[in-house]
This record gives sequence, structure tokens and C-alpha cells, in this order.
Amino acid sequence: MWSLKPVLVIVLSLSLSLIDAQLSGSVGPSTSAASKAAIKVCNVLNYGAKADGTTDIGAPLVSAWAACQTGGLVYIPSGTYAMSTWAELQHGSKVAIQLDGTIVRTGTAGGNMIAISNTDDFEFFSGTSKGAIQGYGYEYISQGTYGARFIRFTDTSNFSLHGIALVDSPSYYTVFDTCSNGEIYNMILRGIQIGETDGIDIWGTNIWVHDVEVTNGDECVTVKSPSKNILVESVHCNISGGCAMGSLGLGTDVSLVHYRNIYENGAGGHYIKSYGGTGTVTNCVFENFIIHGSAYTLTNNEYWNHDSGGTGVIVSDITYTNWKGTNIDNSRPVIRYQCADTAPCFGITMSDINLWTTDGTSVTWECESAYGSGGCLRNPSAGTTSYAASFTTIKTAPAYSASTMPNDHAAAYPSTTSFTIPAVPTTFFPGLKPSSALLSLTTYARREAEAEPTAALVMKSFRA
Ligand SMILES: *[C@@H]1O[C@H](CO)[C@@H](O)[C@H](O)[C@H]1NC(C)=O
Ligand SMILES: *[C@@H]1O[C@H](CO)[C@@H](O)[C@H](O)[C@H]1NC(C)=O
Repeated sequence: MWSLKPVLVIVLSLSLSLIDAQLSGSVGPSTSAASKAAIKVCNVLNYGAKADGTTDIGAPLVSAWAACQTGGLVYIPSGTYAMSTWAELQHGSKVAIQLDGTIVRTGTAGGNMIAISNTDDFEFFSGTSKGAIQGYGYEYISQGTYGARFIRFTDTSNFSLHGIALVDSPSYYTVFDTCSNGEIYNMILRGIQIGETDGIDIWGTNIWVHDVEVTNGDECVTVKSPSKNILVESVHCNISGGCAMGSLGLGTDVSLVHYRNIYENGAGGHYIKSYGGTGTVTNCVFENFIIHGSAYTLTNNEYWNHDSGGTGVIVSDITYTNWKGTNIDNSRPVIRYQCADTAPCFGITMSDINLWTTDGTSVTWECESAYGSGGCLRNPSAGTTSYAASFTTIKTAPAYSASTMPNDHAAAYPSTTSFTIPAVPTTFFPGLKPSSALLSLTTYARREAEAEPTAALVMKSFRA
């Protein structure tokens, strides 16, 4: 069995050299976009697309994919493209999509605007860091409804998604369903503060999410079951539901999930949620959280909602360390570790947890059927039998200092007007540089800017 303690020690002492402490191998496309472009470039302009803001890019994108799907680069040059029909892109291998333009939703169907499936060695990116999808979600949300989701990857391996702004989705932004060896980074997701707008939902194996900013009203970056070897780091959840795991139901199988350097402003901490599931969540680490004004802070709630009828998910060997910040309204405990009475949690460690409130002179810790060390957890020697919720009142504010990000305390965006497309940021956690520079700052983008948007020239520029 994988042992938690040695890895934790290494992570804390050598954090920079062990970026992939929880990954099981390499992530991202197996071949570079430049080498794909050297095989073939399928420019959507040659398949019927027009950067005129009205011609549908849906069918041209499907045709360009068909022409490049076994080796090549689908190229969407700068300019504004309307999308009125959705693109289902399947069975790709050694293929990339370079989105340097803006895709604007004009269609009204449900489903996913861009769905990638059964694809291997795939990169979806912007070469100029200016690619965007504008969903005009406010058109639905201001009417109390939802529209299409933006992007779904299914059964896709050795992939990346990076350098793109996803703006005002009419529903979920991205979902990664049963994917492996993936990397998601240098992204900004920005929209209305309302439920059903999950930012990044993942289930799969060996996936690294880093350097992303999410403003929405539901999950920021969430891991669902089954998942293994997921590393989530340098995430800025700016007005968001926050990061969660779940809801977890029958047959839960989650292990080796590592979140670190998570900055949340008006977003919901980290919580594991389930009710009457079965299976396990084990060997996970949640470290270096800064949370300003969160509704939920450090939470495991095994009585979340919708009893799925099992005896409870067994949550064990979970470490929380270096958390600081505040809840808002003080209506919930800052630590709430409420395990199923029929499946007590064990091996939980909480250290250096400094959680206070924006309003009030005390905070509450709540533990139920939870064993380990720190917080209100009961000592393992007490056994692993159930116990009723017990509440501890903390009357002394912890001493800590928690940095802020620039410009993060503004009010939520209105749901009645369209959004300006933001630039992809270059900082996501106070004091940390992104792991990869934006392509707009590298030779890749310079070559791109020099090239005419034609297949031959793009190809030549890549070969230069
Ligand atoms: C992903 O890449 C790895 C290593 O490059 C390779 O072994 C594996 O077969 C690839 N996955 C799939 C599903 O093709
Ligand atoms: C955070 O979101 C608010 C709107 O909700 C916005 O005004 C602000 O600019 C965002 N901050 C950053 C750093 O993007």
C-alpha cells in the first residue's frame, strides 16, 4: 500500500523539485504541436469557416478535424467566429487544435459545444494566449435557464488544454470524463456567480491541473470518482463555489489526490461530500490553502444530500496542512468533519490550520465519527467506532498572515450584461510564478504572428 508519510515529508522539504509528487507519470500530448503542424495544417478557413462573426464554425471545425485527426494541427486563426452548431470530434490521434481566434456562441442547442472523445496525443491550446470562447451565458441565466456546456473530453489520453479564456458559459465550462495523462493550465474561466456552472470537473487518472483562475458560482476545480493520481495546484478561485470532491456515491474509488497552493476569494474552501455512498477516499493531501470569506472552509460532510443508500464512503489517510483565512457570516463551522456513523473516518491529520471568521468573535469546529490528529479529531486510540457530532468553540483568533491577490475583492459580475474577454493571467497564487510561461511570451507565438493564416505559411513557420 502506498505510504503517505514519506511522500509528505519529501513534498514539504523539496516542493519545487517534486512537482508531480502525486502524478504517476508524464502528462500532456506525446508529440508537440509544431511536429503535428509539420505533418499537416487544417486551417478552418479552408473548410468553410469565416472570421465574420456570423458564419457557423461548427461544421468547418468538424471537417478540419476529419482531415487532420490522424496527424496534424487544426488551426483557427485570430478573428471572431460564430458557433451555431456543435462539434463532436472523435477518434483523434497525434492531433492538435490551435485556437487563436474567438468562438462566439450563437446556437441554442443543449449538449456540449466542443466534445472530444476517444482521442490520444491531443493538445487544445492558443498559440497567442488570446484564444477564447464567449458563451453569452447571461442570455440564459438572466432568464433563469441554462444552455450548452462548453468543452467535454471523454476517454481521452495524453492531452493538454491551455492558454484559452472561457467566458460566460451558459452552463458547465469543462468536464474531463475518464481521461488520463492530462495537463490543464494557464486558463481563465470567468462567468456569472450561479450554480450549474462548474469550472473544471475531472475524473480519471494522472492529471495535472495548474495555474488556472475560475470565477463562477459552482465548483472551481473538482475531482469526482473514480480518480487516482490527480495534482491540482496554483489555482485562484475568485468568487466561486470552491473546490470539492463529489458528491460521492456507490462504489467510490478516489486516491492519491493532491491539492496545493489554492487561493480562494469568496469561494468554498475544500469539501468532500457524500451521503450513504460506498467505497473509499484515501491518501490525499490538501496543503497551502488561503481562503478569504468562504461559506464552507475545511469540510467533509458525509450527510450532504440525497442518500445513495450505502453504508458510507470510508475516508482515510487524508492530510490537511497550512490552511489560513476566514469564513463569512460564520454560519457554519470552519472545520466540519462529519463522517458517516456507519463508516468512521480514520488517519486524518490536520496541522497548521488557522481559520477564523470575517464576522464574529469565535468560530466552531465540528467532528463526528472522525479519528486522527489535530482540530477536533479524536485520537485513534479511541477506536474507530461512531460518535455523535461534537462542537468545539474557539474564542482566540489564530495568528497568521494571508496574502491577497490583486483586484480580488470586487463584487460578483452581473448576470444581465455580456463579459469582456479577459487576458489569461500570469499569476494564480500569491508569490508563485506559473509552471509554464504563456505561449504569447515564447518563440511559438512570434512565429505565429509572422505567419499569414494559410496552411502553407503556418506550416513553413513551424518548420523555420
Ligand atoms: C499515452 O502515452 C503513453 C506514453 O507516451 C503511452 O504508453 C500510452 O499508450 C498512451 N496512451 C494511449 C491510450 O494511447
Ligand atoms: C475577481 O472577480 C471579480 C468579479 O467577481 C472581478 O471584478 C475581479 O477583477 C476578479 N479578480 C481577478 C484577479 O481576476
